[in-house]
Amino acid sequence: MQRAVRALLGSRWPLLGMLGAFAAVVVAVVIVATGGGLAQAALALLLGLTLVGLVVVGASAREAEQRARKTEKQLKSLTESVQAIATAVQAVEERQNDPSGGPLAAIIGAQRLDAAVRHDELIARHDELRADVHATLTEQQLAELSALANLYAMLGADDEVPAFGGYAASPRTVLRLASLVRRLPSDALIVECGSGSSTVWLALACRRAGKGRVVALEHLELYARRTREALARHGLGDVAEVRLAPLEPVTVGGEKHDWYAAPQWTDLRGIDLLFVDGPPGAVGPRSRYPAFPLLAAALDDGAIVALDDAQRQDEADIAADWLAESVDGVRLADDEVVGRTRFFTATRA
Ligand SMILES: C[S@@+](CC[C@H](N)C(=O)[O-])C[C@H]1O[C@@H](n2cnc3c(N)ncnc32)[C@H](O)[C@@H]1O
Repeated sequence: MQRAVRALLGSRWPLLGMLGAFAAVVVAVVIVATGGGLAQAALALLLGLTLVGLVVVGASAREAEQRARKTEKQLKSLTESVQAIATAVQAVEERQNDPSGGPLAAIIGAQRLDAAVRHDELIARHDELRADVHATLTEQQLAELSALANLYAMLGADDEVPAFGGYAASPRTVLRLASLVRRLPSDALIVECGSGSSTVWLALACRRAGKGRVVALEHLELYARRTREALARHGLGDVAEVRLAPLEPVTVGGEKHDWYAAPQWTDLRGIDLLFVDGPPGAVGPRSRYPAFPLLAAALDDGAIVALDDAQRQDEADIAADWLAESVDGVRLADDEVVGRTRFFTATRA
């Protein structure tokens, strides 16, 4: 019955109740106005008031019911959260009680083991590398030292020679150049780009071999003077000359360079040994490239060309270009590498 009434009224009951109350008040007013009994009018008013009271009570009951439902929902969600937390806590407890430490401990353990193995490997590699570097350094130093001793034994030097190290070619390179002098023709012409101690040693080698002469191109007055002074100390003025050749712009192989001023080298003919040790890299990229294109015409057939500092990228590129080029019918072929110097042989077509 109650359900039937609810279904019938639905959510309209507050409106209907208020309408009923209004109707009861209207009826009471009509009774009074038409001279009806006061008792009947009071009854109608009482009915109206009762209906208003019922609507108010019903509305608060409905509100209380909605609040109760909301609270019930919140309680349910809270219960679910508590249960989830309890499950998580239980899982952690189970892991803690696991004698193996659980999956997390296993991962950490494996990583520790991995790190320890890696650490040992790195230490072993470090020791190996240190031993290698030590051995390599010792070998290189030994090679330079023995070249130095060899040079003094072969050529002697009864006065001070500009020191090796820094900008100077290494003893191994100079020793090889000096050895080559012995194999050159009697009227051998040795040309050097960049003067210094190598000029003195080459001149000593010419004097000892009793043949050949050295022409060194030098772009800086200071070093030209120093080398001349060293040559003079050894009485080598008739065997070697230093030509002061300031750098001037030149375009070779489509590239712009600064190279030794032309008047200082255009007269050179029949070069048997060309040592390219200048201009220094600081002058510009591929600063030594012009040597072969500009002096190829002056090289004798079978001449030797030596390019110093061949371990540098610029010089490696220069060497690759020289090997690929044919200038005035002259080509270069790779010969050998001694220390930092790469040797080529020139052939004339
Ligand atoms: C590589 S060095 C030539 C070295 C020379 N062939 C030798 O073996 O002694 C090239 C040029 O660097 C310049 N030079 C030489 N010693 C230098 C120094 N200590 N500081 C700056 N430039 C230097 C000189 O102009 C030299 O011609």
